[in-house]
Amino acid sequence: MKLKIAVLPGDGIGPEVTNQAVKVLKAIASEFDHTFSFKTADVGAIAIDKYGDPLPDKTLDLCKSTDAILFGSIGHPKYDNDPSAKVRPEQGLLKLRKELGLFANIRPVKAYKPLLDKSPLKKAIIDGTDISIYRELTGGIYFGKKELSEDGNTASDLCEYSRIEIERIAHLAFKAARARKQKVTLVDKANVLESSRLWRKIVTEVAADYKDVDLDFLFVDNAAMQMILNPKQFDVILTENMFGDIISDEASVIGGSIGLLASASVGETHAMFEPIHGSYPQAEGKGIANPIASILSAAMLLDHFELYNEAELVRLAVDKSLKLKITTPDINSEFDSITTSNVGDFIEDFIFNPNDSNRN
Ligand code: IPM
Ligand code: MN
Repeated sequence: MKLKIAVLPGDGIGPEVTNQAVKVLKAIASEFDHTFSFKTADVGAIAIDKYGDPLPDKTLDLCKSTDAILFGSIGHPKYDNDPSAKVRPEQGLLKLRKELGLFANIRPVKAYKPLLDKSPLKKAIIDGTDISIYRELTGGIYFGKKELSEDGNTASDLCEYSRIEIERIAHLAFKAARARKQKVTLVDKANVLESSRLWRKIVTEVAADYKDVDLDFLFVDNAAMQMILNPKQFDVILTENMFGDIISDEASVIGGSIGLLASASVGETHAMFEPIHGSYPQAEGKGIANPIASILSAAMLLDHFELYNEAELVRLAVDKSLKLKITTPDINSEFDSITTSNVGDFIEDFIFNPNDSNRN
């Protein structure tokens, strides 16, 4: 298969982890006789520094003309502490999602056996957890009208949803549940918010097309509690933009490190793959950033193009690296000298020689 892939490394640890994912995709291409071509472009704080724009036209055009996008991370502390900054790195990511129509963000959460003792949660609670979060990504409070009064003392962000925005992601979530444990949990705040009541109504209507899938509802505050009390109860979680943002960071605690969580953002015509972690500027350039989230995002890219054997091999290599503790310090206190690229090299090598007996 021929694939054109845009690589947007972004800020902080983005470039280091994305390099490892590209390395892995190149190994897959060579092992399975695919032609993957890569073109890199700037996004985020680095693009503001160079061009004064977090998503330069050149970057957007490249993304529009490729089959898939591999995204690193964006953000820089100098913007976080400056509420008056008019141009912010995050605007680049939000605009990209909107322009490419990436309305569904899929975030798998798993408790990896070798890492069960890395989570602050009890083993018995997390063992066996396997959740797929379907987060709506181009609507809601993130994209509603924003206002700041002239005197600067009142501000508002509108949370708006329309039928079509809810229906299209609901269908994806139900289809996914069909191939999993046949359960969708809608997370909302329907006891307070009108937009949540619309979600409940429409998702209930959509559920009628999927009689083989159970639908239940949880208020987001309760869902946040259930996520750490009993995460195994969940199969597919369907939710709006901001609740999905919050609950997926919370869910990352189950895996033992946010450095493990991958995501796919898909729409009608485009697809982007990115780790859910941020730019982690404190770790930049130190070789300690965990590349697994980015590498697993590359595996989701392969799945997206139905290259299932290829994706499976990447996941097998990741599992092996975790088992052998070829991992960065966030999940490895014993061998804290293993670097970001050591992990990438191990996974690359596994792809070339999956049956190497010297690896034990
Ligand atoms: C994420 C991030 C983004 C979001 C930020 C960087 C805008 O936290 O992808 O989860 O809030 O969607
Ligand atoms: Mn987030």
